[in-house]
Amino acid sequence: MITLGIETSCDETAIGMIDDGKVLANIVSSQIAHTKFGGVVPEIAARNHIKVIVPLTKAAFETAQKKLTDVDLISVTKGPGLVGALLVGLSYAKSLAISLGKPIIAVNHLEGHVYALQLVKQVPRFPHLVLLVSGGHTEIVFVEEVFRYKTLGRTLDDACGEAFDKVAKLLGLPYPGGPYIEQQARDGKIGAVVFPVPHPKGMSFSYAGLKTAVLYYTREHANYRVSDVAANFQEAALEHLLQVVYRGLEKTKVRHLGLVGGVTVNSRLREKFTNLARSRNITLHVPEAQYCTDNGVMIARVGAERFKRFGPSDISIDVVAREPLEQIT
Ligand code: KG4
Ligand code: ZN
Repeated sequence: MITLGIETSCDETAIGMIDDGKVLANIVSSQIAHTKFGGVVPEIAARNHIKVIVPLTKAAFETAQKKLTDVDLISVTKGPGLVGALLVGLSYAKSLAISLGKPIIAVNHLEGHVYALQLVKQVPRFPHLVLLVSGGHTEIVFVEEVFRYKTLGRTLDDACGEAFDKVAKLLGLPYPGGPYIEQQARDGKIGAVVFPVPHPKGMSFSYAGLKTAVLYYTREHANYRVSDVAANFQEAALEHLLQVVYRGLEKTKVRHLGLVGGVTVNSRLREKFTNLARSRNITLHVPEAQYCTDNGVMIARVGAERFKRFGPSDISIDVVAREPLEQIT
């Protein structure tokens, strides 16, 4: 079954194509128009999706060497995300489905990220834990079995990637800041500046305090070294993720842990979690970088699974700004 996956929930326009478990195309265009604003501007995001979605789809079909009529199912992100951006993808998917006479399925973006774990060589067994860390989300999820989720904790304020982006902006680095912080951190000295590791209750996450600590430090130390601040911010931000996951592993006793979302591209994060997995004798599952960040393949993958079990969505389906994993309809 050939499934086309369409993702426009934020600032990436992404088209993926799969034939059952085989990836045929993965085309992503990241919008650079937001760089000068230091964050995503919703209306600009929606307008850019409109500009690039048709050429990107053409590129995906060329890469896959398929024709429009070869597609059996169209899977599209319905949310959570920016409403205007989501509407572009959903309306486009509907028009393709109607004109081709093919079924459409509208899927949850977060579940798409979780399904990126089906694209790794060794897929995690049930039950397992998933840490989802991106620019919009920071959640720890207990995956009991297929389609059964329990969110153990989520961020009380900023998402982890958002904190990387905001701290990068403070340090005069470009947007999106995560990769630039990581790059700077390589030259920084750990311990040169001490930032507190956040400690919210239970398995919640919080990044507002850490971000403010960086802001005050930079205000009070005019001659600060960007690399030292980046390294020690990164260390505290990642240590926080590690501590929450540690508690999640203690509580659930699962033997498999998956890491998904844009921040998991970070090599220091991967190093820290590899050490954690080794010390606890659990198996770590991390998709390739291209499937950690927003992509259409994960949307195609989850859509195909849901379609097999529940059938298509109604053509009148709407976008959703928020939809926790437990409440997917
Ligand atoms: O999953 P994603 O592509 O889009 C969202 O759904 O948000 O994640 C993007 C986020 C951005 O905040 C970006 O700064 C962060 O992932 N990111 C990183 C790295 N690469 C991307 N954060 C830390 N280190 C990185 N190497
Ligand atoms: Zn995402």
